[in-house]
Amino acid sequence: MARTVWDSTVGKKTVMAVSGIVMLLYLVAHMIGNLKIFFGAGEFNHYAHWLRTVGEPFMHYEWTLWIVRVVLVVAVIAHAVSAYQLSRRDIKARPSKYVHKKARASYATRTMRWGGIILALFIVWHLLDLTTGTVHSGGFETGKPYQNVVDTFSTWYGNVIYIVAMLAVGLHIRHGFWSAAQTLGIGSRTRDRALKTTANALALLLTAGFLAVPVGVMTGVVS
Ligand code: HEM
Repeated sequence: MARTVWDSTVGKKTVMAVSGIVMLLYLVAHMIGNLKIFFGAGEFNHYAHWLRTVGEPFMHYEWTLWIVRVVLVVAVIAHAVSAYQLSRRDIKARPSKYVHKKARASYATRTMRWGGIILALFIVWHLLDLTTGTVHSGGFETGKPYQNVVDTFSTWYGNVIYIVAMLAVGLHIRHGFWSAAQTLGIGSRTRDRALKTTANALALLLTAGFLAVPVGVMTGVVS
């Protein structure tokens, strides 16, 4: 049963939609959490510490965080694998000998593919930058994310990498949210306008919220 669903195009699209929504919920929470940086180092670092103690004493230190991490890793893999397989199917199904030698995917499809690749690369960079500190520009300190974030946005390349990624996030969500709604059968002639507006608002809000942090550091509001 599960195998039949996974093998079908609609099954893979459903996996993409659901895993996309899981990541979207994470991003909304992450963006809101990031805005705490405007309330100073004490509050931001305290929040980062709380992320590790959520659920105590029922949960042990970092257990909840690890559950979130596992869910996210599963979502990222499911999203990437189904995207790859759907795009292979799409290429195979294309009547390439017909009219053009190489029929090109639509603008939205190409934007989603490139956006996805940029975001995957960004996530690797981001984890090495602010979670492990491996590629961090300053003296990375575990438990001091405020200073780590300020250091990142004090370099020109840090700003370029994050700003490009934030724009990619916005574009990806704008189209992805809409596609997910269609796959899950939420779309209809009467609802499509409202869904497009919601997708645009969500994309704009997330991009603006995330961008506020590098802009805050660049303008000296956060230092
Ligand atoms: C201006 C934008 C962003 C800032 C300032 C930022 C900041 C941070 C910081 C400080 C951490 C480490 C938290 C800690 O260890 O306590 C972190 C973790 C993380 N961020 Fe971001 N982030 C941004 C955008 C994003 C975006 C766009 C994504 C996804 C596409 C993302 C995904 C993650 C993930 C997956 C983690 C790891 C969480 C964990 O397992 O501990 N972040 N971020």
